[in-house]
Amino acid sequence: MAIKQNESALMQSKKTYWLPNIPHFLAKQACHPKGLFGRLFGKAMNKMNKESNQWVLTMLNLNTNDKVLEVGYGPGDGINRLSQIVTDGFIAGIDYSETMYHSAKSKNKQAIERGLVELSVGDAEKLPYESNFFDSMFCVHVLYFWQDPISVLKELIRTLKPAGKIALFIGDKEEMSGIKLTQTGVYNLYTLEEIVELLEESGFINVHYFQKCMSTGPLSQGICIVGEKAPC
Ligand SMILES: C[S@@+](CC[C@H](N)C(=O)[O-])C[C@H]1O[C@@H](n2cnc3c(N)ncnc32)[C@H](O)[C@@H]1O
Repeated sequence: MAIKQNESALMQSKKTYWLPNIPHFLAKQACHPKGLFGRLFGKAMNKMNKESNQWVLTMLNLNTNDKVLEVGYGPGDGINRLSQIVTDGFIAGIDYSETMYHSAKSKNKQAIERGLVELSVGDAEKLPYESNFFDSMFCVHVLYFWQDPISVLKELIRTLKPAGKIALFIGDKEEMSGIKLTQTGVYNLYTLEEIVELLEESGFINVHYFQKCMSTGPLSQGICIVGEKAPC
């Protein structure tokens, strides 16, 4: 009887050992999509985040000839929408996922071919652009993954022109906390006050935020924080 119990305990522990930690796996994919699963995850993100991408772009008062950067372009829906607004300017995107680079490249093939869009693989903490280059920049569901957000934000403000704008989309901390993925140690969730503070500490001014009821995607509420670089 005792042996049987031990056997069953052993099998139980083997089962636990082999079961993948699904929320952790998904969180890692959101943070850095990789491989075939990353590509499929990207397809889902294109659908889930289209409303956020669309909304965030309305915050930037874009002109057709602006130079705009997207940080963490993922599968490329934001870049694609942007290329329909900024038709005669320059659109850059940076993402450290090779898998997302290939997905975003195929989604934006024509705009890349005509030189409107330039996608790079790299870390937002070290941008391959000169100082005071971009009119605007944005990112959607990316801030959670920065280990040192101040250092990334300082790098972003470096490449922004004086009086240029940044718009960051995030989910509400309380709502996000209810999603298992965010409780895996991969996500850093922030309150609105904390993000405003991060932006101000990095040198942004006129930092303010907007909230929106979302009709598609996993969140009922979206938040967009907007800040500016001081005019010279
Ligand atoms: C959750 S996805 C969001 C993708 C896209 N913005 C969207 O809304 O569909 C986060 C993306 O940010 C990228 N990313 C996260 N931190 C980054 C960093 N420090 N530098 C470059 N890319 C980063 C990841 O590779 C991933 O593609």
